[in-house]
Amino acid sequence: MRICVIGAGPSGLAQLRAFQSAARKGDPIPEVVCFEKQANWGGLWNYTWRTGLDEHGEPVHCSMYRYLWTNGPKEGLEFADYSFEEHFGKQIASYPPRAVMFDYIEGRVLKAGVRPWIRFSTAVRWVAFDAETDRFTVTVHDLAADRIYSETFDHVIVASGHFSVPNVPEYPGFATFNGRILHAHDFRDAREFAGRDMLLIGTSYSAEDIGSQLWKYGAKSITVSHRTAPMGYDWPDNWAEVPILTGVEGNTASFADGSSRHVDAIILCTGYRHHFPFLPDDLRLKTANRLATADLYKGVVWVKNPKLFYLGMQDQWFTFNMFDAQAWWVRDAILGRIAIPDDPQALLADVAARVAGEDAGQDAHDAIHYQGDYVKELIAETDYPSFDVDGACEAFFEWKDHKKAGIMAFRDHSYRSVMTGTMAPVHHTPWKEALDDSLESYLIN
Ligand SMILES: Cc1cc2nc3c(=O)[nH]c(=O)nc-3n(C[C@H](O)[C@H](O)[C@H](O)COP(=O)(O)OP(=O)(O)OC[C@H]3O[C@@H](n4cnc5c(N)ncnc54)[C@H](O)[C@@H]3O)c2cc1C
Ligand SMILES: NC(=O)c1ccc[n+]([C@@H]2O[C@H](COP(=O)([O-])OP(=O)(O)OC[C@H]3O[C@@H](n4cnc5c(N)ncnc54)[C@H](OP(=O)(O)O)[C@@H]3O)[C@@H](O)[C@H]2O)c1
Repeated sequence: MRICVIGAGPSGLAQLRAFQSAARKGDPIPEVVCFEKQANWGGLWNYTWRTGLDEHGEPVHCSMYRYLWTNGPKEGLEFADYSFEEHFGKQIASYPPRAVMFDYIEGRVLKAGVRPWIRFSTAVRWVAFDAETDRFTVTVHDLAADRIYSETFDHVIVASGHFSVPNVPEYPGFATFNGRILHAHDFRDAREFAGRDMLLIGTSYSAEDIGSQLWKYGAKSITVSHRTAPMGYDWPDNWAEVPILTGVEGNTASFADGSSRHVDAIILCTGYRHHFPFLPDDLRLKTANRLATADLYKGVVWVKNPKLFYLGMQDQWFTFNMFDAQAWWVRDAILGRIAIPDDPQALLADVAARVAGEDAGQDAHDAIHYQGDYVKELIAETDYPSFDVDGACEAFFEWKDHKKAGIMAFRDHSYRSVMTGTMAPVHHTPWKEALDDSLESYLIN
């Protein structure tokens, strides 16, 4: 049996680690081949200065930027089989910058020794399923050797992420705006906008965090325009929330309440698209960015062909340990330890129940519990180390309260690890004063 994993970000790496952990226990495992279009692993956490197209003419995957610190406590995402303390040799503060997170992600898979399973700089171009042979043909482009070839697999696991291809609306006057317009995907360094009047569209995590970066690194003013509702935090004095943009003329932006203001640059924090240009219609997931995705039994099995799996396609409160829960479950489904129902109606009923469960929730607390329950459900069916998921939910609830209490100070708090029981230290410098986001600086505590 041969397994194809598409992508070596946190989800794809979780899948490699899941198979490796079974092998280490002495269980026979299939051949696993992971195709990764970038030259290194880590997915979005593999930072590049590049935007647009990369050195091979491929769309740049990275949506992260300099000075990015995690936007939720690390205690909510910690791997159950590889704690922060194991990796760093001590407990560290709760909102690590990107470089620290990359180091942690890499540490587990270096230890597992799965790097040889990955073919780097290799983009998956097409996946086709042959009902007669019951196998997939995967066509890939080895970008370094400039060679296109195909191989066959019994299962395909799509772990290509869904926060890389931007959703880019257009507003009247954009074509003649006297300044830069970019999507959050192409934002890299807040210092570029020091002293500028900035307009951000959108009210989710990108708007909140990029706005906060711009404020921290000296933008003159930040205006955030909302389509549905303002974020409502207690923002600094030079930060305003306004209704949706109606258009721009020269450097003047106008909004739905009739107000207008001068802006130097516009950042579209308008989210991302699930985008799988390498999949035909009958295999391609089409879903909104939500906790209960369309058409995935147990959140991972493609209902129209249960030999195909997707990882990490949900909107995310939980991340790394949820990807692990999914990867261990998919591994066990492939190894025949978990049975996937034969009846397509049973698969569809599972999806419908998950959608109804999410829709029944009233607020963010319910959503966090809902995704926590999902993680619990999956890990109960595998040998992934069980952990206190409710305790991780508590860290998220505290985090939300801390954001309400001080949006520029929530990263100064610390939380208890549900994996090791140790309390994280308070970081040595308040976030708004910490301009050095290097690993070396963060680890001094
Ligand atoms: C700006 C930003 C900040 C974030 N911050 C946090 C945070 O603080 N904490 C947190 O927990 N989560 C955060 N996230 C969420 C993030 O989605 C997850 O942490 C995680 O990176 C998702 O892992 P993934 O493997 O599913 O996808 P990705 O990380 O996107 O990895 C997918 C991989 O697939 C590869 N790939 C794609 N297409 C192909 C192809 N055709 N062929 C071969 N390879 C391909 C890509 O190169 C990439 O390496 C953030 C997301 C964004 C956009
Ligand atoms: N530091 C960090 O760790 C960090 C930083 C940034 C992002 N992230 C992560 O990145 C992921 C993506 O977050 P995101 O904020 O980019 O996307 P998102 O959560 O999907 O939010 C998209 C936003 O765009 C708005 N929007 C969409 N289309 C629009 C349109 N045509 N006009 C106006 N507004 C529109 C939405 O508004 P409506 O509410 O009206 O639909 C919403 O506010 C999340 O997982 C987040 O945690 C993390």
